[in-house]
Amino acid sequence: MASLYSPLTTGALALQNRFVMAPMSRNRATADGLATALMAQYYAQRASAGLMISEGIQPSITGQGFAQSPGLHNQQQADSWRPVTAAVHRQGGRIVAQLMHAGRIGHPSLYASAHQSLAPSAIAANGLAYTAAGPQPYPVPRAMTGADIRQCIDDFAIAARFAIEAGFDGVEIHAGNGFLLHQFMTQHCNQRTDQYGGSVQNRLRLTLEVVAAVADAIGAHRTGVRLSPQNPYNDMQEADATTLYPALCRQLPADLAYLHLMEAANRDMTLLIRQLWQGCLILNPHHSAQSGPVTPQIAAEVLQQDLADAVAFGALFLANPDLVARSRRGGPYNQPDPSFFYGGDATGYTDYPTLQLSPRAEPESLS
Ligand SMILES: Cc1cc2nc3c(=O)[nH]c(=O)nc-3n(C[C@H](O)[C@H](O)[C@H](O)COP(=O)(O)O)c2cc1C
Repeated sequence: MASLYSPLTTGALALQNRFVMAPMSRNRATADGLATALMAQYYAQRASAGLMISEGIQPSITGQGFAQSPGLHNQQQADSWRPVTAAVHRQGGRIVAQLMHAGRIGHPSLYASAHQSLAPSAIAANGLAYTAAGPQPYPVPRAMTGADIRQCIDDFAIAARFAIEAGFDGVEIHAGNGFLLHQFMTQHCNQRTDQYGGSVQNRLRLTLEVVAAVADAIGAHRTGVRLSPQNPYNDMQEADATTLYPALCRQLPADLAYLHLMEAANRDMTLLIRQLWQGCLILNPHHSAQSGPVTPQIAAEVLQQDLADAVAFGALFLANPDLVARSRRGGPYNQPDPSFFYGGDATGYTDYPTLQLSPRAEPESLS
């Protein structure tokens, strides 16, 4: 049984421990999608994680879903990430870039280009976008043409190359949480009649083609994939998840750096995927709807039960930059403040305190 504190090497990623910081959008990039010095500080503070997964980063202008989210689709953006990855590496950490195309989750007023969102079909998500004019219903997106789809696949590959050029250790393809790739997977929002809609195989096609293009661009050993089966977030409904996800797991390249699963009170699905996927599995465990933010205790149980090889922590890592050291001491933990999650300055971002450790209680001396 692996300990949370034991190292793990998977593909090109050498993790010093099995604490993974889950991807978390914090909306503090510039309006042009550039990473900032404050973002470098935020990530460097959390570099004692075995692996950090960056916030969702748009691989194209049309992939942007939220105000002040960062991009990786031009040279200036790639250059802006260099100080971030360098700061993380100076602290001995590892960081991959989460490439996230939001699809129909967005609103034209959120971005300079005021573009209409793209999606598999012209079906609006039920929900509200948070715009400068207050919450507004998600508008009806434009159904992607064949040319849009080819462009989207290219955009992921180009963004992956930019990520490596910017010093990231790899890339995580976001295929969950109701964003574009997930939208293609379900008939609820994919009613296409071409080769990207209809059968399970057709609905998986875009994800598989994006994964293949990214792996071709930067190597499967530097590529991870995030899934969130049966998670209703962002107006998702999945009628055939128990067929679709096994089919996906069987077809993902076996030499991917990892598969990352966000569990949504569906342990049976986790067990099924653990059985089918022979590669490295990172789990963001939520055994029941009541499970709160992932804690070191939950994570230790996950490893004890061999449900996964590493565990992703969201809110607790956000609020505890020194989560690994705190965990070694058994806490205490700062509580995350949701009012500062999205957008703003250093408040609720880089000002969560670390434990003041006395020399006798240095984390290294505890095991
Ligand atoms: C502020 C915030 C932003 C998030 N942004 C993203 C994101 O950009 N990409 C993503 O895949 N998940 C995102 N998530 C989901 C987290 O990765 C994670 O799955 C979720 O917080 C549940 O884990 P936890 O219970 O440990 O917090 C976000 C969560 C939070 C709290």
